[in-house]
Parts: sequence; structure tokens; C-alpha cells
Amino acid sequence: MAGIDIPRETWATRTGFILAAVGSAVGLGNIWRFPFQVGQEGGAAFLLIYLLFIALIGFPAMLVEFVVGRHTERNPVGALKAIAGGAWSYVGWIFIATGFVILSYYSVVAGWTIRYTILGLQDGYLADAGEAEGQFVELASGLDAIFFHALFMAVVIVIVAFGIQRGIELAVKVMVPAIIVITVGMAIYAFTLEGASEAYSYYLSPEWGVIAAEWQSIFPAAAGQAFFTLSLGMGVMITYASYLGEDRNLAEDGAIVIGFDTAIAFITGLIVFPILFTAGVDPADPGAGAIFVSLAAAFGDLALGWIIGAIFFGTVAIAALSSAISLMEVVVSYVVDERNVDRKVAAFGIGIALFLLGLPSAYDLVLLDLFDLFADQILLVLGGLLLMILVSWSLSELAVDELSRGIGDLGSLGPAWIWAVRIPVVVVLIVALVLGILDYYEFLTGPFAEWVGGQ
Ligand code: TRP
Repeated sequence: MAGIDIPRETWATRTGFILAAVGSAVGLGNIWRFPFQVGQEGGAAFLLIYLLFIALIGFPAMLVEFVVGRHTERNPVGALKAIAGGAWSYVGWIFIATGFVILSYYSVVAGWTIRYTILGLQDGYLADAGEAEGQFVELASGLDAIFFHALFMAVVIVIVAFGIQRGIELAVKVMVPAIIVITVGMAIYAFTLEGASEAYSYYLSPEWGVIAAEWQSIFPAAAGQAFFTLSLGMGVMITYASYLGEDRNLAEDGAIVIGFDTAIAFITGLIVFPILFTAGVDPADPGAGAIFVSLAAAFGDLALGWIIGAIFFGTVAIAALSSAISLMEVVVSYVVDERNVDRKVAAFGIGIALFLLGLPSAYDLVLLDLFDLFADQILLVLGGLLLMILVSWSLSELAVDELSRGIGDLGSLGPAWIWAVRIPVVVVLIVALVLGILDYYEFLTGPFAEWVGGQ
């Protein structure tokens, strides 16, 4: 039964909503994934394609999630039931499942960031890359990993249990400004390093030849990253927009959120690359644990690296936290709206289930990959694709109407938006899905089969 008679909470302020959406978007995707994708996919050339995808694919797709959330004022399952009904409600189910799986291992990785913050403060980082790798393997799986996964999950539970205004909104009002101030401060610090100028030219001057030679891997990677970093494809933005009480300009809000997310990812590159170049680490060679190996080793090499590293990993932990609460809120809002469960009970129960589901990822890195690839390259893309098809092809009038609330007549921008979703967004997602399935098959028959054989 839908709890229609219970008044639904709303954000207290416009800033609260924007900060929550920024907090969701800015996370491990910006700090952990982005710089190393730039490194792997050929530097500045990748950066350009990525920015293009953010504007052409990410922005229209984010507005789709916003209008669905604000129009229905419901969790993703309830929202799809309300606007489409029938089999489309299953898409909402895909969202819930995706959130569940992503958060289970996201919490394990976030646990590592807490562990690495403490590591810097307690012992400092190992400068030798080989030793750093050994240390990562030791800390990333097993009891350490399980303990910090549990700790992180507990904090997420508490924040979400307090609800929208007193939980999420309050938390992001502290966390998001802190993330911004610290990343800018660290970029200024990185500017003073010896390797800075070499790093900037690597990061900022594209070699056009790279795009021509490697577009097959650059394009899907950039598209996938654009979706992941903006928290699209599993109803986070539907859920957050469903708590908007009043009409306002969603296009403007979306642009602000995207601007902050892109700025933080970009600035992270200005931190990470000077540090790597100064320590003489090749950015194209991230290794298994990315920031936990090559970057940690670089901190081991720097003067005062222990404290700078601890600040860095601490900031990553905060960024991960403000993203994790959005993933949890998708699942919790479903249980609260559709099943009339008390929010605190829901947060606690779901948190325990997530802790258990994360145990395999904390037990072995191959199992973490098994969850990550499945959720990120298949579930996320599939759910996002179905939602984009539904809204742009069969609900376009409703969508344009809803977007114009708070803006006024959209004129030809309305159809331009719908067509941007109908063709470019849908095509990019279909290609990403096919490539993702192929990649997953390769993983299952390769590394995973090997791992199973070794057990
Ligand atoms: N955007 C976050 C990041 O960059 C991760 C994230 C949070 C996410 N919620 C999401 C990704 C929903 C996909 C879907 O780390």
C-alpha cells in the first residue's frame, strides 16, 4: 500500500537540495576513478571527450531524472508506477537492485579510504611501489576491510535514519563545503611541487592522435564515467527531486550540480598528477588499487606526505559518504513510501543487509570486481537506458510540461532536450550496454573463472 496520507518530507532549502545532489555526484567516481581513467585513456584527449559527454549526455539525462522525481513525488518504483504503470515498475526494481549492489561494495572501498587515513596518521605510507602494493592487498581484504566496511555502513545508517532535513541535508551542508575547500587547498599545494609543470602539460594539452587511435575505448569509458559520476541511471536524482516541495528552475539546478561535479573531478586531476609526476610514477600505470597503491607510494615519497596523504584520503572518505547516503536513500525511500515501514527501522534493516552483501567484496578483490562490473556496466546502464526510452519516447509531453514549471515556456528548447535524449543519450547507452556485457563475459570466463579454479 502506498502511504499517500502520510505527509512526505521536503528539503528545507534550495541550497539543501543542490548540496545533496552535489554530494551524491562527487564521490569515489571523481577522486578514485576519474584521474586514473584519464591516465589509462591517454591524458588530455580523454578529458576533452569526457567534458563533451557530460554536456551532451549527462545534462539531458539528469533533467529526465529530475522531472520524473518532482512530478511524482515518489521513490523510483512508485514514480514509474505512477507515470507508466504495468511492466515499467520493474525498471524501478532494477534501480533498487542496482543501488543495493553498488552500495555493498562502494562501502568496502570507502572503508579502505578510512583505513588509509589512519595509516598515514599512524605509520605513514610506504614509498616503495612493490611494498605499497603488498600492503594494499593485505588491507583491502579480510578482517581490516570488514571492520571498516562495517564502520562506514554504520555512519550511513545513522545519517539516513535521521531523514531528509535533519539527516541528509544537515550532513551535506557540512561535508560538501569541506570537500570543496580541501580539494582547492590541495591543488594549490600540488602547484608548488617540482613535477607540476610536466603534469599540467600531460593533463591539459591533448594529443589529437590519441583520439584517432583509441576512440573505441575512449568513447565508452568517457560515456560510462559521465553517467557514474553524475549518479545517473538508478534513480538517485529521481529520489532527491521527489523531495522538492516547490517549483524551481530544474535546468539551472542541474547545471549547478554538474558544474560542481566537473570542477571537483578536474581539480582532483590537478592534485593527483603533480604528485605522481613528482614521485616519478607513470600515470598510465595505475595498478590494481589505483590511488591506494601508486598515489599512496607517492605520498610515501613526499616530504610531509603522511599528513598530506591523510588529508587526501580523509576527503575521499567524506566524498564517499555523501554519495553513499544517496544510494541508501533510494532503497530506504522505496521501503518507506511503498511499504509504510518506519524510516529508522528501514535504514537499520537495509544497512545490515548491505553489510552482509558487501562481505564477499571485503573478502576478495575478484569478488568486488564481480559486483562492480555487473552493477556499473550492466545494471546501471540497463536501468538508465529503459528510463530514458520511456520518458523521451512516450512521455515527452509530460516531461516538457514538468520542466517548464519554474522556468516558463521552453520554446524550441523543449523539443531540443527531448531529441537529445531520444537519440544521442539512448544510442550511447545501447553501445555502452553491449560493450559492458562483452566485457563482463570476458571477466567471467577470464579472471573470475581462474579465481574459482584456484579456490
Ligand atoms: N556519483 C558517485 C561518484 O562519483 C557515485 C554514485 C552515487 C552513483 N550514487 C550513484 C553512481 C548512483 C551511479 C548511480 O562516486
